[in-house]
Amino acid sequence: MSPGKFITLEGVDGAGKSTHLGFVADWLRAQSRDVVVTREPGGTPLGETLRELLLHRDMDPDTELLLMFAARQQHLAELIRPALSRGVWVVSDRFTDASYAYQCGGRGIPAERVAALEAWVQRGFAPDLTLLFDVPPDVAEARRAAARTADRFEREADRFFSRVRHAYLDRARSEPARIRVLDARQGIDALQVEIAALLQELG
Ligand code: TYD
Repeated sequence: MSPGKFITLEGVDGAGKSTHLGFVADWLRAQSRDVVVTREPGGTPLGETLRELLLHRDMDPDTELLLMFAARQQHLAELIRPALSRGVWVVSDRFTDASYAYQCGGRGIPAERVAALEAWVQRGFAPDLTLLFDVPPDVAEARRAAARTADRFEREADRFFSRVRHAYLDRARSEPARIRVLDARQGIDALQVEIAALLQELG
């Protein structure tokens, strides 16, 4: 049996990626793939407990980064790696690109620290495809304002999200084959046509 593939969705808060998570899973299931949908931080019982702390408790930025990777280690060990080896496709709402975007871009932690944790926890493992939903700060801000109560990240200022966005776009420039940038200002239907084409390419 061939291993499953790992697909991640990324973007600043308010980019609308959560809307497309279900579409990705449904599209893959329509191709008779076994699919599991998950998220970071979270995805396991321990990871979800860490998520509560990460989203609602104030903490030192390095503590935040370490907890992100603690949750990620558990996620990989308990869910992602076993699922992929059973031939299941895994679709995750965020993964390590978010640590580069939020903890490095947003909080200013040097990228070498994330790279060191990534090497430790992932041992060379990376997503097969990352969909980066990109929107200008004012659009994301309007979407965040329309959404439910803000968590610790969503309360950050526009400047923070602008840095997060640029860190994501820098990552996409350095790994153009894996990270595909989608203009998330487009309507849902137009975006889904693009997403379907990228999934088709993945095989
Ligand atoms: P998010 O994925 O936006 O979920 P929801 O749509 O339910 O709010 O929330 C997760 C938050 O965690 C988001 O603001 C980004 C942040 N985050 C990081 O800062 N670093 C990371 O490595 C990950 C995975 C998430």
